[in-house]
Amino acid sequence: MTSHSWLMLDHEAPRYRLPDELRARDPMGGRDCGWVEQMLPFVRRFSRPGDTVFDPFAGFGTTLLAARLEDRLASGCEIDASRIDLIRERLARHGLAHGTTLLHASCDALEDSALPPFDLCLTSVPYFGCRWTGAQAASQLYQSQNYAQHLDGLRNVFHRVRTGLRDGGACIAMVENIRLGERVLPLAFDLARILGSLFAMEEERVLVYPHEGHDSESDAHTDRRHEYALVFRKRRERIDLQTTAALLDALRADGHAFTLFGSFSRWQQDPQGTVPADADIRVDGDPERLDALLRWLREHGFSVTNWGDPVAAPLHLDTYRGRHYFRADRVDANGALIRLDICYEQ
Ligand SMILES: C[S@@+](CC[C@H](N)C(=O)[O-])C[C@H]1O[C@@H](n2cnc3c(N)ncnc32)[C@H](O)[C@@H]1O
Repeated sequence: MTSHSWLMLDHEAPRYRLPDELRARDPMGGRDCGWVEQMLPFVRRFSRPGDTVFDPFAGFGTTLLAARLEDRLASGCEIDASRIDLIRERLARHGLAHGTTLLHASCDALEDSALPPFDLCLTSVPYFGCRWTGAQAASQLYQSQNYAQHLDGLRNVFHRVRTGLRDGGACIAMVENIRLGERVLPLAFDLARILGSLFAMEEERVLVYPHEGHDSESDAHTDRRHEYALVFRKRRERIDLQTTAALLDALRADGHAFTLFGSFSRWQQDPQGTVPADADIRVDGDPERLDALLRWLREHGFSVTNWGDPVAAPLHLDTYRGRHYFRADRVDANGALIRLDICYEQ
């Protein structure tokens, strides 16, 4: 893979292309099928031969084929049964069906035993508003009724990806912002925010397809003149330990009651031990005290989120039932990160 931040994809090699007769069988005519060439550089750069590459939205098996071509094991989830059949046939035609595990499911519904760990997650995500004409399924994200539901579905899938991905592995999602009628939805940027709540961002690459766009007001634009490859990594973030300790002191001094627990508390007792990636504090669930704490944090430059979503002020705790914690992050001008996870009793 070059050191350029972009990848120019000007043609699709016929030998890798989804064969026309398989494409014709698909309810959407294969129009959401990616290119093997788009996946190959990422397979090569972010995994090694023998590794397992996982695609939670396997589609037509494009990622899986790229993985098998590079001697990786391939594993994928796909919610649409007809596409599972299509992937099997496509891989078989390449003589690469062995070494591939296909699961007809949404990965967030799978137990650990059903989804063995993997070394790289590489996918292109389902678009919102594309008028799915295939079989109906409750977790088919092409059927999302509204944008918030779509983003929630993506979050659930990548949350599960995080559990299955080995430490240090990359999670790479290909995605573009989409035009829906007169509206542009920043799907790529919203997905980056979701991934940022689960993984550490590493880089972005822009995939450029040098063809003309077409105008259509009737459906989501997925004509891919360019898209983003968002590259994230499952690793512990490095926080600024001294600034974090000073912040906890300042919180106490201003009368905010909390109990420090978890890795930061252990590290304060044993500075030679594991370096913490955040400071966990526990507070009681009194909405007014919690609101005052979050307000204090905002006034001190923190952004407060809940499962990656911004938390609106004043706090309406009922909105977050069952979610158990807030995250407060501050990045200072020298790049230092301070991260608090605030657990509250419900
Ligand atoms: C953009 S396509 C993936 C195409 C694939 N990367 C390829 O080029 O072969 C997205 C796929 O996600 C599938 N999908 C949607 N929701 C899903 C879910 N919850 N779990 C698994 N697959 C899902 C859709 O059926 C569709 O095939």
